Parts: sequence; structure tokens; C-alpha cells
Amino acid sequence: MTDKKEILQNKIKEALLGGGPDRIDKQHAKNKLTARERIHFLLDEGSFEEIGMLVTHRANDFGLDKEKYYGDGVVTGYGKINGRKVYVYSQDFTVFGGSLSETHAKKICRIMDLALENGAPVIGLNDSGGARIQEGVVSLGGYADIFYRNTRASGVIPQLSAVMGPCAGGAVYSPAITDFILMVENTSYMFVTGPNVVKTVTHEKVSAEDLGGAAAHAVKSGVTHFTFQNEIACIKGIKHLLSYIPSNCEDQPPRYAYEPSNESRPVLDTIIPDDPGKPYDIRAVISGLSDSNSFFEVHRDFAENIVVGFARIAGRSVGIVANQPAYLAGVLDINSARKGARFVRFCDAFNIPLITFVDVPGFLPGTDQEWNGIISNGAKLLYAFSEATVPKITVITRKAYGGAYDVMNSKHIGADMNYAWPGAEIAVMGPKGAAEIIFKNEIKNAADPEAKLNEKVTEYADKFAHPFRAAAHGFIDEVILPSDTRIKIIHSLEMLENKVVNNPRKKHGNIPL
Ligand code: HXC
Repeated sequence: MTDKKEILQNKIKEALLGGGPDRIDKQHAKNKLTARERIHFLLDEGSFEEIGMLVTHRANDFGLDKEKYYGDGVVTGYGKINGRKVYVYSQDFTVFGGSLSETHAKKICRIMDLALENGAPVIGLNDSGGARIQEGVVSLGGYADIFYRNTRASGVIPQLSAVMGPCAGGAVYSPAITDFILMVENTSYMFVTGPNVVKTVTHEKVSAEDLGGAAAHAVKSGVTHFTFQNEIACIKGIKHLLSYIPSNCEDQPPRYAYEPSNESRPVLDTIIPDDPGKPYDIRAVISGLSDSNSFFEVHRDFAENIVVGFARIAGRSVGIVANQPAYLAGVLDINSARKGARFVRFCDAFNIPLITFVDVPGFLPGTDQEWNGIISNGAKLLYAFSEATVPKITVITRKAYGGAYDVMNSKHIGADMNYAWPGAEIAVMGPKGAAEIIFKNEIKNAADPEAKLNEKVTEYADKFAHPFRAAAHGFIDEVILPSDTRIKIIHSLEMLENKVVNNPRKKHGNIPL
């Protein structure tokens, strides 16, 4: 028995070392943690249960029969984060560069199957040189097995992907299907083809960092939702993100303790500038009415003309979607519509009520936008809001012009409660533009065209540049003081907490992708 115990202990000792001490040192020298260290920092102390520690690869070509490592380059199992069950896989770069073999893929698939069957989030910590080159097509098959599971689990359990090293080739498509991607600055990158292939095909010279580093994907492509300065910050980010979201689509998001107090927020009366053309930061509105320090912005550096993120109001998780007047006047364009739509769909899939703040001058005009598909991309946001059945509350803080009024969670597309602040303008367009079109001849023929224009602008503004006409039609449920917004939202969330709406039976809709 002692012998057998010793054999087991030696195997475990070997497994814990992955590719060995030298490769672990190399990993540390690159400012990277090992697969096991990442799991250690991610999960509640002592909660990790490993599955498949002694799995090894089956391939024998190219000398692989003589080089086997327990675990085969990925540590898999389950544990808890703040007391909630999660399933985890963490790729071990010290074993064949974390490359994906047949058995490595099988281990990941097993974790995903368990997560789906048991209704808990799956978290992937990615650090891999891609397909195990020596294994060929079985490795490609392994990737496809993972993609298939990612897709089946989408909308059922939250799937988070932290990219903590290389993630290249088709391997990027697993994170891409998951709900959120988190990247670490300077040590992680994602691309379909690396700098060498790019150089050969397009003659562009670009570094891995510029091509697919955290900054490139946070700002330019929008592929990553979050970036962090180092791995520890990234791991904290995963835990923080999970604190807003439920374990599965049948569950409710975690609810935090909340002591009712005076919910009036006078600071909100001071945010909108007197000059309607002046910008302000919508984040001041969001933070001003959320529970203190609870706003967690998603996609912060991408399409900044829309702000999305999670917050808590009276202890409940909410998803915020808000035009940002401080960036491009909050106009809707292709990227902001895509960003908003994806976030709305996540919240809807996971029972997180949506709060929308509207201050939008319309859609961005121009050939660039038209030729790149503002029509179908703008429709994504419209579709996402229309399809969402979670409680939906809208607050128009200032402008709601044109088609953008309809798109931004208007009453007409299923919003439950629509509020407007007293200075809100709900119209087809701004008073000046409107007057110039409908009174064109009158202005042109006037003795003093400028005075006529001003007169007509005032006339139009009196008629439409306020929220009362929309309120008279019932499109706005109530015109409220900014300082009362938090109270109104708290009451609406309580009123809507048992909301059930069923969309017509269908296989699935056909969102304009
Ligand atoms: C087998 C691999 C490997 C791979 C790295 N290694 N990638 N082994 N298959 N794909 C091994 C190396 O041989 C080395 O082994 C160890 O991992 C560390 O690699 P290094 O090159 O020393 O590390 P580094 O300098 O940090 O470079 C990392 C790297 C580079 C940029 C990832 O290794 C690399 O370019 N690898 C190949 C990437 C690739 O082309 N993958 C296939 C992509 S196609 P030792 O024994 O020295 O420690 C693909 C298709 C997926 O993935 C399709 C899905 C649909």
C-alpha cells in the first residue's frame, strides 16, 4: 500500500510541475503566472477540485511517444468564486506551449459539458500556441468540438474567456463565441493570422502587439470587452464581472443587501448644461443614480459614443445602455450599435433588467457609414431591444431625435417604463434643421431671412422641443425631475420584478448579423 501511495504521490508531484521547473521559470520571466497559479488566485481558497490531472496525450508521431506530461497542457476542474460554483479550464503554456491536442480538447469539453448540465458559468484561461502541430487534424477536430459546445451553451450559462498569452489561428473563435473576453496588456494577443502571414500576404509590417494585443482589440476591433494591466487585475476582473450575473439563464442575478434611505439624488439636477449643444459625461448620470461605486463599464474604450455596463440599483443588478454626449455628441453609428446590441442580448439572456439613457442626435451620416452597413448594423440594436423581454426602463435626459428615438428602447418597441427629464426634446430632428426644411421658401422669401429662421425655430421648438407631446400620447409615462430618477427606477424595478413576456414561438429569430 505504501508503494502505491508513493506512486500516486509522485505522479501528483509530477503533474503539479506541468512542463517542469525550467519552463515555469520561463513563464514567470515573461511576467506570466502558471496555469495553476491562475486557478489559485481565481477560486475561493481550498475550493478547487481537479478533473483529469493524470490524462496524457495519445499521439506517438514526431517523438511524442517519448514526451508525455500529466494533464496534457490544461488544468481543468471546478470550484467556487465568492461561494458560487464555476467550472474552469486553464491552459498550461509549459506543456507544449499550451497547445491543443485531442486529449487536451476532450478535457475542456468535459468541463463545458458539466457546466452546461449543472447550470454554472465556465471560465477559460487561455494561454496556448494553438493546434498541437504534431497531432494534425485531431487537434482541429478538438477545436471544433469546443466551438460547438460554446455555441450550445451560449445564452444558457455565462461563458468568460480570459486571454493571458497567445491565442491565434482558429483558436480565437472559442473566446469569440463566449460572452466576454478579458485580455492582459502586453502579454496576450489574439489574431486569425500572425504578423508573418500578414507580411507575406498584404506586405504590412506589424508587431504582434499592434496587430492583436489588448489595446488593439479594446479600441479598434472591439473584440475584447476588458483589458487589464496584469494577470492579477484580470482575475479580479473576472470575479467582479461574475458578481453581476446569474449562474445560468433560469437563475436571477445575485442581489446585494440594501438599506432603503433617502433616494433623492440632487446631483442629477446639476448635470445637463444650460446650452443644449454642450456635451456632458453620461457616466455622471449613471454613477449619480447607481448604488455607490457599483458601475462596471464594459467595452470602455470601444465605440465610446455609447456607454454600456453593469450597475446595481437598490442592490439589484441592472444593465445600462446610454448614449454618450461627450463623444461624437452620442450619435449612433455602426460600432456603437453593434456594441449596444451585444450587451442588450447578454442582459436579456441572463435576466438582467435594462436601463437605457437617451441623449442622441440621430444616426451618423456619410458614405463610410452607409457603405459599411449602418442600415443592418443599426438594425441590430433595434432588434436586440425589441426582442428583449427583461424589464426595460428608459430615461430620456435630453435629445431623442429621429429613428434613434425609436431604437433607444422606446415605448413602441416594448419598453415598460419610459421617463423623460423636463428639458428632453423628442422630435424628428432638432428645431433648426426642421425649420430650415419645412419653412424653406418662407425663410428664403422673407425680408430678413435670419429673423424668419429664428422665428420658425422658436415656433417649432415650442411645439416639439419638449417631452410633453410624447407624454400626451403616452409614449412617455412620466416627466420627472432628474433628482427623482433613482426613486422612479427603484419603484419600476420592484413593479416589474415578476414580468413574464413570451415572444412568439419560433426556432430562432434572424437578427441582421
Ligand atoms: C506544439 C508547440 C506549439 C504548437 C508552441 N509549442 N506552439 N508545440 N504545437 N502549436 C511548443 C514549442 O515547441 C516550445 O516547446 C514551447 O511550446 C514554447 O514555445 P516557444 O516557441 O519557445 O515560446 P514563445 O517564444 O513564447 O512563442 C510562443 C508562440 C510560438 C508564438 C506561440 O511557439 C509559436 O508561434 N507557436 C506555433 C503557433 C502556431 O503556428 N500554431 C498553430 C496555429 S494553427 P519547448 O519544448 O521548447 O518548451 C491553429 C489552427 C487552429 O492553431 C484551428 C482551429 C480551428
